[in-house]
Amino acid sequence: MDLYEYQAKDLFGKHLVPVTPGEVCTSSAAAHEAASKIGSAVVVKAQVKVGGRGKAGGVKLADTPDDAQAKAEAILGMDIKGHTVHRVLVTEASDIAEEYYVSFLLDRTNRAFLAMASVAGGVDIEEVAATRPDDLAKVPVDALKGVNEAKAREIVAAARFPEAIVDQVVAILVKLWVVMVEEDATLVEVNPLVLTPDGLVLALDGKVTLDDNAGYRHPSHADFVDREGTDPIELRAKEFDLNYVKLQGEVGIIGNGAGLVMSTLDVVAYAGEEFGGIKPANFLDIGGGASASVMANGLDIVLNDPEVESVFVNVFGGITSCDAVANGILQALEMLSANGAELTKPIVARIDGNNAIEGRAILTDANHPLIEIVDTMDDAARRVAELAAARKAGK
Ligand SMILES: Nc1ncnc2c1ncn2[C@@H]1O[C@H](COP(=O)(O)OP(=O)(O)O)[C@@H](O)[C@H]1O
Ligand SMILES: [Mg+2]
Repeated sequence: MDLYEYQAKDLFGKHLVPVTPGEVCTSSAAAHEAASKIGSAVVVKAQVKVGGRGKAGGVKLADTPDDAQAKAEAILGMDIKGHTVHRVLVTEASDIAEEYYVSFLLDRTNRAFLAMASVAGGVDIEEVAATRPDDLAKVPVDALKGVNEAKAREIVAAARFPEAIVDQVVAILVKLWVVMVEEDATLVEVNPLVLTPDGLVLALDGKVTLDDNAGYRHPSHADFVDREGTDPIELRAKEFDLNYVKLQGEVGIIGNGAGLVMSTLDVVAYAGEEFGGIKPANFLDIGGGASASVMANGLDIVLNDPEVESVFVNVFGGITSCDAVANGILQALEMLSANGAELTKPIVARIDGNNAIEGRAILTDANHPLIEIVDTMDDAARRVAELAAARKAGK
């Protein structure tokens, strides 16, 4: 999960990385109030998860609270590279003597971490890397040893920071490494890290990517989840712990195993061409040992997608055999009706693998009005696309 600048700076503050005081605001009136509280010139900064906000006009200096309000008015609602600005950070304006760049990132290729630093910061660092690579120091960081004071001195020396601020930058690098490790981040970047005319080094921007796989260790990171930026169905699926991705289409897909689900998306998209461009509505992998309750959660998510017209349950029985899956589907539908769900969308089931014959027999015997069993994946894809097209045409 990528964080907004204000969230990254919250983490910086928690680990004592020097940042300017500020407040995130969703209205221009709140920006006025925040600027009054700060009591000096401020910078109003668009909070979007994309770089180059400064160049795009999303970072503006304001001398007074009235000015901050006007700047916030202009920035809120702005579109920056396809991202709408819903919030601004109002933060103390710093005088800047120099702008630097520092970052830590997970270097998967080398199975290590990488520190990067440059005294040519503030600007597009990719450009520095491309046009004058000697100005961007890259220092590998051993995952087990991390960044202690000695390692930080090595990074600072490689980037040729001015002697007078070496100790400050070293201290900041050690703290940023603490952010990296204690918050389970895969990226921590500061651009610019600035030197003020009175000799202080401060982080004026912050970019942090958290490792979602370590989310269970950080209950507080749940607050960082961007609710308005995430599809509401994806949010619910996350609460159920399901591997779900919303797509634009009409056929809900439920399968077990990521590979099977991926190929199901392909066959449905292919079959759908014949029916006016019917497409899969989602990716949903309910995993290997899918129980009835996981199937119920999956069906619940997919059937509640207003775009879905029909559902394709494509399961290959393995450890959980097909008879268990078939019973799971029936129990899931019972659970959903018992909870008051109005079930009207047709479901095409293709089940194969371990105990397939028994599984199909259970579904046939149940004679559920919404379930159709189709033996092959291609035929099932075609049928489910046909059903979706028919329902769509009937609207
Ligand atoms: N608090 C601040 N005080 C003064 N100048 C700032 C402040 N924050 C940002 N800036 C200036 O605006 C530029 C762009 O801001 P930054 O936060 O780096 O956004 P982005 O990287 O998205 O362009 C910075 O390089 C810096 O020169
Ligand atoms: Mg920046």
